[in-house]
Amino acid sequence: MCGIVGYVGPKKAAPILLDGLRRLEYRGYDSAGLAVHDGREIEVVRAAGKLENLANALEQRPLCGSTGLGHTRWATHGRPSEQNAHPHAAGDVAVVHNGIIENYLELKHELQASGVRFASDTDTEIVAHLIHRALEQGAPNLFGAMRQALGRLRGAYALAAISRREPDRLVIAKNASPLVVGVGEGETLCGSDIPALLGSTRNMLFLEDGEMAELTASGVRIETVEGKPVERAPRRIDWSAVQAEKGGYKHFMLKEIFEQPRAVEDTLRGRINLDEGDVVEAELGLDAQAARSIERVVLVACGTSHHAALVGRYWIEQLARVAAHTELASEVRYRDPVFGPKDLVVAVSQSGETADTLAAVKAAREGGARVLAIANVLDSAIPRASHGSLYTHAGPEIGVASTKCFTTQLVALLLLAVHLGRRRGALDAERGREILQALLELPNELRWTLARKADIHQVARHWHNAPHMLFLGRGLGYPIALEGALKLKEISYSHAEGYAAGEMKHGPIALIDENMPVVVVMPRDRQYEKTLSNLQEVRARDGQVIAVVTEGDAEAKKLAQWVLELPKMPELTQPVAAVVPLQLLAYYIADLKGTDVDQPRNLAKTVTVE
Ligand code: F6R
Repeated sequence: MCGIVGYVGPKKAAPILLDGLRRLEYRGYDSAGLAVHDGREIEVVRAAGKLENLANALEQRPLCGSTGLGHTRWATHGRPSEQNAHPHAAGDVAVVHNGIIENYLELKHELQASGVRFASDTDTEIVAHLIHRALEQGAPNLFGAMRQALGRLRGAYALAAISRREPDRLVIAKNASPLVVGVGEGETLCGSDIPALLGSTRNMLFLEDGEMAELTASGVRIETVEGKPVERAPRRIDWSAVQAEKGGYKHFMLKEIFEQPRAVEDTLRGRINLDEGDVVEAELGLDAQAARSIERVVLVACGTSHHAALVGRYWIEQLARVAAHTELASEVRYRDPVFGPKDLVVAVSQSGETADTLAAVKAAREGGARVLAIANVLDSAIPRASHGSLYTHAGPEIGVASTKCFTTQLVALLLLAVHLGRRRGALDAERGREILQALLELPNELRWTLARKADIHQVARHWHNAPHMLFLGRGLGYPIALEGALKLKEISYSHAEGYAAGEMKHGPIALIDENMPVVVVMPRDRQYEKTLSNLQEVRARDGQVIAVVTEGDAEAKKLAQWVLELPKMPELTQPVAAVVPLQLLAYYIADLKGTDVDQPRNLAKTVTVE
């Protein structure tokens, strides 16, 4: 999510760090900063907004010195601002961080109780204070102090730190967030991603989870957090800068599809209390009294986010036992909608800036409703206009067609449904626990599904020239069918329609003949038998069926010409996995047709116009 660069060597660090950050700029960020050791002190310069602002600040306050850290921030804790930008300093130490510290509140309270005053709202500053405290309490050096601090952290991190007392080294550590070391001629670098280092070296090694390292101009020393030495030789990375940005994938969209297990993990991180079968979510601001007073939930959104809202509606009705509706924000804003104080309005938006959704939020607030935002961009307009927010932690999404933002919106909506269900007394701890356990299993189920990409590619090869494609689904599968059709039309420009399978006989069945490919989303769920009959209706009219089914579905295999499998998994979380083959199908078809997958014609990532 955030970008990290570190340098130690004979050259002036600041220009190298800034160059590294520029090479990470494509990923998006909201603020940036550098910390450089000038031989006596650590100087920190930070700026909100674009790197240009940081470059201007550096002109005013040039940083001398040849050991330093740089960072571009994508906010997760604390709004985007100069004060929250990294590096964060405490005592003699400066730290940059990528990831999410799960137990940051607990640690923050502990540090505050011992007299620490915080200068930012970030989880990262806690790490700086923990390292500083370890040094004060006798840790032998920065490496030892980092090790002690790591012992207190739960969560995902790529960390890099420098200390005033040790001007010639960086200390880094990794758990669940990537960290790369670049080994140059008489200089050593680190970065969150390969592109950050390509201006200096192509000799790189990758830290593994649970490892830490000390970087000096003459090289790198790696140990596990437990203190076991690790030998690892650098290897040469021959990727071009453009390949490196995409992590070796052909397009950002493909990279983002494959990032979904990680994005889901990050969105769940720190939010699940299995003992209580409950969701820990302070930002929502919904206590039991507020939750019980809700008589109607209205989900407002556009496009892909609207499809996530449609799934959310099922979950909220089922788990929280409250009437739930969805509205296209672009429609509701032009009606004369009736909202009232007993309504909970949930605005779903990956960008958090969509003009239509923002207008719907304003209309809901004018009517006296309580508004919650589900967004991927911290402190964007929609969360700012809402009473509470639940952020997805998908990280920056560059492909215009949304993929990982959609799956993490689903995860956030299921968390919200459990949260509401528990507060309203509609869901007991046991069932809450079962659902949360199902959510925790999702990343592996997504990996399982992604590993079957060859089957999906085969279908794409067969059908990429089809002018039309129909997508059918029932229940939780219906919004997934809509999303599959939207993905296909957005990026391949093929005509696609999503339909509720039960609506087939009311019209679309007239389209079916031997030239019509029909994707049927039919994992094993309570609707299965009915959807199977729809499949039979299509086959009886010579339609060509691509069935998205649960592993081992012999019946569907007999009937459908192509079968794309999902793992055996709980019914409630199936939609999150079921969309993955459809994302890949759209991607492969578009790629075979040679369209501009990442920037499809006529589309924008953030739609701030009506
Ligand atoms: C499609 C897509 C769009 C957005 C829609 C709303 O892949 O991304 O349909 O979902 O423009 O945008 P957000 O979610 O930013 O409100």
